[in-house]
Amino acid sequence: MSAGEVSSPDQGDEKLRGYKNAAAERERALSSGGQAACAGFGESNRRASSEQPLLGISGVSKRFGGIVALDGISFAVEPGQICGLIGPNGSGKTTLFNCLSRLYQLDSGMIEFEGVSLLETPRHRIAALGIGRTFQNLGLFRTMSVLENILVGGHCRTRSGFFQNAVRPPRVAREEQLLRERVADLVEFLALGEVANVTVRDLPFGTQKRVELARALASEPKLLLLDEPAAGLNHAEVDALRALILEIRERLGVTILLVEHHMNLVMRVSDKVVALNFGRKIADGPPAKVQQDAEVIRAYLGSAQ
Ligand SMILES: Nc1ncnc2c1ncn2[C@@H]1O[C@H](COP(=O)(O)OP(=O)(O)OP(=O)(O)O)[C@@H](O)[C@H]1O
Ligand SMILES: [Mg+2]
Repeated sequence: MSAGEVSSPDQGDEKLRGYKNAAAERERALSSGGQAACAGFGESNRRASSEQPLLGISGVSKRFGGIVALDGISFAVEPGQICGLIGPNGSGKTTLFNCLSRLYQLDSGMIEFEGVSLLETPRHRIAALGIGRTFQNLGLFRTMSVLENILVGGHCRTRSGFFQNAVRPPRVAREEQLLRERVADLVEFLALGEVANVTVRDLPFGTQKRVELARALASEPKLLLLDEPAAGLNHAEVDALRALILEIRERLGVTILLVEHHMNLVMRVSDKVVALNFGRKIADGPPAKVQQDAEVIRAYLGSAQ
């Protein structure tokens, strides 16, 4: 089953209706109890300020011993944008994602998310702040089911701790119910219904990638970092992925930073493209312009030789 099954606009609207209702209900339920509601998905994402970039990366450098993986990288991602991040193997794309996720400490530079420095944010708070990601080599719990993996992704949006989970006051039970509804909508959105109870390690690679996407979306991100989502997919699946990425932006209001080697996909889906080579930014602009940039062409031809 391919991700393209969600690409029909009417079907998608229908599938997402429950998802959005659940988000609105959660907002109402939590705020009426005097609790700060988690950021509503979709609509509140679209309300993001248009005055500042959602993500601002400025002079970011990262070394591993003698290797300069990132060398003074600066660029911005605007709310609602799909930004492609390209570059030959080893050019620093995943390293930049790991810096954004706070898995790596920067050597220098600044990263701001909604105007707030990410460098002050511990890595376990990144998802709650609104940054979700998928991994180049998949970051799933392989012995857990599809449903359990997606539920784990949504837990950063719940407020209950150990004591409340043990006592289970009504608010906690309600929160859990809303999370399960949201996960059920995501399972439907990503056509994972038939495998919801299957252990992840028993699934084909392409399906595991959809599970990982569902897990990332369960955290209700404002910014989604996708690290080579098309790797290992066939031609039809890549087309379906393109439709899905656009749907995630259009229907859920999620801004996307997309690392991809599949040039046809990046150039067709992105609003702008940033190109890296040996840790340096070599181009930043509209896809058609970056595609024709002499340094970008040289970087790719050089890496092919
Ligand atoms: N944890 C690490 N320790 C040492 N070197 C690393 C580490 N992570 C990345 N590097 C090095 O940093 C450079 C950039 O690697 P990175 O994985 O970011 O490239 P990439 O652009 O994602 O490549 P690919 O397209 O192959 O995934 C490479 O030279 C890599 O070997
Ligand atoms: Mg990589």
